[in-house]
Amino acid sequence: MQEEVVKKLEEIQKAGLTDLEHVQEEQQLNEWRTCYLGKKSEVLQVMKEIPDLSVDLRPKVGMLTNQVKRNFEQGYEQRLEEIRKAALERSLQQDRLDVTLPGRRPEKGRLHPSTQTLREIANIFGQMGFQVYRGTDVETEEFNFELLNIPKYHPARDMWDTFFTTTPEVVMRTHTSPGQIHSMRENAPDPVRVILPGMCYRYEQVTSRSEFQFFQVELLAVGKSIDFRGFKGTLQDFARRMFGDNVRIRLRPDYFPFTEPSAEMDVECFICQGAGCPVCKHTGWLEIMGCGMMHPTVLMNGGYDPREYTGFAAGLGPERITMLRHHIEDIRYFWANDVRFLEQF
Ligand code: PHE
Repeated sequence: MQEEVVKKLEEIQKAGLTDLEHVQEEQQLNEWRTCYLGKKSEVLQVMKEIPDLSVDLRPKVGMLTNQVKRNFEQGYEQRLEEIRKAALERSLQQDRLDVTLPGRRPEKGRLHPSTQTLREIANIFGQMGFQVYRGTDVETEEFNFELLNIPKYHPARDMWDTFFTTTPEVVMRTHTSPGQIHSMRENAPDPVRVILPGMCYRYEQVTSRSEFQFFQVELLAVGKSIDFRGFKGTLQDFARRMFGDNVRIRLRPDYFPFTEPSAEMDVECFICQGAGCPVCKHTGWLEIMGCGMMHPTVLMNGGYDPREYTGFAAGLGPERITMLRHHIEDIRYFWANDVRFLEQF
């Protein structure tokens, strides 16, 4: 009888410890514990039977059963530790961090191409002593037209197709020229040297060359000794700083109601150096601004006596300049907000 029980316990122990050797994961280990140490385990079964044994057998079998149980418990603890250690090592191996790898670059925002050109223009004129003056996007018809020598019903108004607002007499500015009057009135009778950058709006058919909104930079100088020579010199200087030392300019006669004489300024095509190419439509010249000597009426409207004062004004298009410099063939890209376009600048 004794031998039988001892043999049985030995077998249980052997089976349990052999099984334990094959356990690889915590989940498996828990199953093993339920099987060999749980309520339905064989060891417990033997323990339950102890009271039925003879008195002299009971202590021996009891001791032996406890021994087996303890061995199982120890084995369990040991295996658990081994499994956890192995898992930790595995994760350290897998999640290893290579600190010598280059970091991921954060996405950086950038300035809109028009803003970049706008700032360059502001810098150049800033170096020449011009201050930046800001106007508003809405103007009254008086400032957008009348005070600039474009009376009501004057055919020249057709040059600026206008967005009217629901408020009578209030329009979206069609050019930055109303700023001429504002800045003159603020400074009279002192000399004025300002540039006025801003968004302009025109009720126009949108095409690859004209948008209904675009930037303009107004250039304005008023003083007692301003003449056409100085004006042309200023424009020449601007063109050199903007497009390169050797660039040539030319002024072609044009018409604006608020300047007299008026001109259109061309720069020599900096793509073909004047030889003729598709960008300059084989003329060798690129048109970049309207300009002229200020009309006496406009000077007067600004608060200056035209018998004493003279002035010059110009209106540049930053988008146009940006298109020429970067060979952008469609102006609609500028305000379409396509990042694939914007990311290139
Ligand atoms: N305001 C004119 C336009 O939008 C440009 C211009 C400005 C012409 C200043 C002459 C002087 O067409």
